[in-house]
Amino acid sequence: MTKRASPVKNGQLFRAFLIGSIGAGLLGGSALSGLQAKPATDWPALAHPIAKDAAMEARIAEIVAGMTLRQKIGQMTQADIRSVTPDQVREHYLGSILNGGGAWPGGKKQATVADWVALADAHYKASMATDMKVKIPVIWGTDAVHGHNNVFKATLFPHNIGLGAARDPKLVGRIAHLTAKQVRATGITWAFAPTVAVVQNPRWGRTYESYSSDPALVRQYAVEFVKAMQGNLTGSDTTIASVKHFLGDGGTYLGKDQGETRATREQLIRTHAPGYFGALEGGVQTVMISYSSWTDTGAGKPQGKMHGNRELITDVLKGKLGFDGLVVSDWNAIEQVKGCTRTHCPQAINAGIDMIMVPDDWKQFIEETIVDVEKGVIPTSRIDDAVKRILRVKMRTGLFDRSPIPAASAEADMASDVMRTTAREAVSKSLVLLKNNKRSPLPLKRSAKILLVGKGADKVTPQLGGWSLTWQGDETDDNDYPLADDMLSALQKAVGDGGKVDFSADAIGVDLKGYDAVLVVHAERPYAEMKGDISYPASLRHSERYPDDYAALERVSGKGVPVVSVLFSGRPVYANDLINMSDAFIAAWLPGTEGQGVTDVLFGGAKDFQGKLPFDWPGASCPETARKPVLFRRGYGLKLAKKSNLGRLPEDGVETCPALAE
Ligand code: GLC
Repeated sequence: MTKRASPVKNGQLFRAFLIGSIGAGLLGGSALSGLQAKPATDWPALAHPIAKDAAMEARIAEIVAGMTLRQKIGQMTQADIRSVTPDQVREHYLGSILNGGGAWPGGKKQATVADWVALADAHYKASMATDMKVKIPVIWGTDAVHGHNNVFKATLFPHNIGLGAARDPKLVGRIAHLTAKQVRATGITWAFAPTVAVVQNPRWGRTYESYSSDPALVRQYAVEFVKAMQGNLTGSDTTIASVKHFLGDGGTYLGKDQGETRATREQLIRTHAPGYFGALEGGVQTVMISYSSWTDTGAGKPQGKMHGNRELITDVLKGKLGFDGLVVSDWNAIEQVKGCTRTHCPQAINAGIDMIMVPDDWKQFIEETIVDVEKGVIPTSRIDDAVKRILRVKMRTGLFDRSPIPAASAEADMASDVMRTTAREAVSKSLVLLKNNKRSPLPLKRSAKILLVGKGADKVTPQLGGWSLTWQGDETDDNDYPLADDMLSALQKAVGDGGKVDFSADAIGVDLKGYDAVLVVHAERPYAEMKGDISYPASLRHSERYPDDYAALERVSGKGVPVVSVLFSGRPVYANDLINMSDAFIAAWLPGTEGQGVTDVLFGGAKDFQGKLPFDWPGASCPETARKPVLFRRGYGLKLAKKSNLGRLPEDGVETCPALAE
């Protein structure tokens, strides 16, 4: 746990410290550890569980020696299934395909598992039908970031932020293995997970993909996740993992997606790298590079975009940290490297990227990269190293020796009982009780008469967040999630005989007489990546961004019936006004399909709250410049047994944050 200093009281130093600290951990995180703890002199030496196999390396060398340049560059290319056919995989010797968020077989959102398997089989067979001396199987990668979230009827687990709140590394391992089972059931053998970002500012639209601002917790989770997802690498129900996004994705200034991470080398090592140390020690086989850039604030030197950073990718990740798997770029990310386009970036390959995610323009990329090698802009040795790494990963996972196509029975793995009970357990463990004052009706009685309020309460999409069937988690409805429970269905299942649940989206005109409790659901709309950024100077106040939630709560608060608020969000937000109007307040994050995990705890019984905040909880709309930026510290969380005595919180009506000196 990093030690925390008492914030400097007044003056410029406080402001500079504050912004720096927000940029490095919402006042509770790593800026202090970077300033105070013993300086991390260098990158650690790591223990790697998977040694190179001499016979395998000899076989790899022999295959590479027999490949043409075009075959090698094809092997280094990853295309999206919407832009490539199996026949083109064969013709152009492609090494990998992916399905980006919202890409399904045949463009069908409700494609069946059999559809996924058929497409995987077609691509696999095509890759094994090339005119190469030694056929190399294609490998399919997918963003299974909270279960196999692109697949219709798959059980979706809580997003990482909720798992961070659960503080249960073994649970994370169980979820990783179940996710791998779901992925393998569709004929896919590579998951682009875990994300080990150590988020420093909740403005980032990907905050929910982070476990915590605590590097030590992220490292612990990374080990468990990778070991469970990958198993011994050759299992029929495991996949290879992809730890991402290297390096410093969660530390950008003001949480801007794909922005600039301002950190000393020491902060990179202490704050942003521990998830990689854990993943590498867990034997992770692939690393995905970050869109972000790094400015070395120690040396006062911009280092440019990570996709062109040879020192960190080759000298550090592959050198000092000893990573011998493959490094993959992010979606068209090479175009952000100075002097590059999405089809031409020798800088990225020379920096150490082995597989290039060129979803659509992959043909042009192949042609332009061949020319670079022929002209000596990219050394052949670099190409050979990249192809050897790709073959090493494919060979280690047995892809050369067996088809990735599963037995038909594997389909049951998408939403098996164990999937759903494990997801439901994770939901319950992820809930953080922030307020439970004496008038709180928790735990609810099953005989209770409950009014459920909120436009996010009778649909499941607010619980899922981004990366759910579609990239943004939007353009979907409850028909796309026939097995899921939203709050209304979960409550209806929870109340017993004599109990009653009524629903009103906005509580307009509802007479509260006769109800034992009102449950108000507040929810962010789903988002992913940059579309979820709360860009400075916008306010972090939830009711500023979602006034309907505030209005609904205001209609039922203080009317003599106790009110419980449940917030579905991908980040901690400023909610003093909502907390003040609630007798109990629960941060439920993005729990996924198993909404009954929420009601299991609301009705108490065997389950109590165990969640602890994975990030500091804002005490102001603009934490970057507030005098009291934090309301609850990371680690805070109440239990039902002990009522809180939370007095009225100050409410800042800030709509737009003040200008910052850059
Ligand atoms: C996205 C994300 C990355 C994901 C990739 C493929 O832009 O940054 O996390 O794995 O593209 O969908």
